[in-house]
Amino acid sequence: MEFYLDTADVDAVSRLAKVLPIKGVTTNPSIVARGRRDISSVLQELQSIIGAEGQLFAQVLGREAEQMVAEAHRLREIVPSLVVKVPVTQAGLTAIKQLKALNIPTLGTAVYGAGQGFYAALAGASYIAPYVNRLDSQGGDGIGLVRDLQKLIDLHCPATQVLAASFRTPRQVLDCLLTGCSAITVDPALAELFLQDPAVDDALMRFDRDWSAAYGSIGLK
Ligand code: E4P
Repeated sequence: MEFYLDTADVDAVSRLAKVLPIKGVTTNPSIVARGRRDISSVLQELQSIIGAEGQLFAQVLGREAEQMVAEAHRLREIVPSLVVKVPVTQAGLTAIKQLKALNIPTLGTAVYGAGQGFYAALAGASYIAPYVNRLDSQGGDGIGLVRDLQKLIDLHCPATQVLAASFRTPRQVLDCLLTGCSAITVDPALAELFLQDPAVDDALMRFDRDWSAAYGSIGLK
């Protein structure tokens, strides 16, 4: 199981990488644009924070296969180990096949259908990213999509991983994990929600109070 942060916020990654067992960081053009920073600097800083073992993802902008392949090379000049995110369109599938032949790992992104994602796996993508919340928001079944994709991949393309993406609620994240998907990426604020139950602070305060009532300021020796 691989857990990623979906962000280009270097401060958030720096802080959360010390706390959460993250495998790496995923970005997309909207996420990078939010920071209004030079993409080369951002990607290099993110890679430096997650270290040599950490996996970084960034997405091409082009709509034609040739442009996507050229941008994939450019992104890999910035961070040589980077996985290139390619939208699963007809041009994207062509680019994924070409990049596979060059041993450049890809993630097939903007996946709203099991058949669409399955094509990316067959084309040689290392990862496929179904968009859970975006599909839910248009009346679809995001978790059902992840379940179908994971089953298809297990049956036919076991070298590919389903990296589920696009979440708004902790329940979506948990339901997705319960499908058995092999990887997931979550926005930092959402990832932190799992550690923000006020009942936890309350439980710790009670421990302190009970201990102090019995032993005063004497701690553990
Ligand atoms: C991942 O590949 C996507 O870029 C991302 O998770 C989309 O998330 P959003 O729907 O929250 O923008």
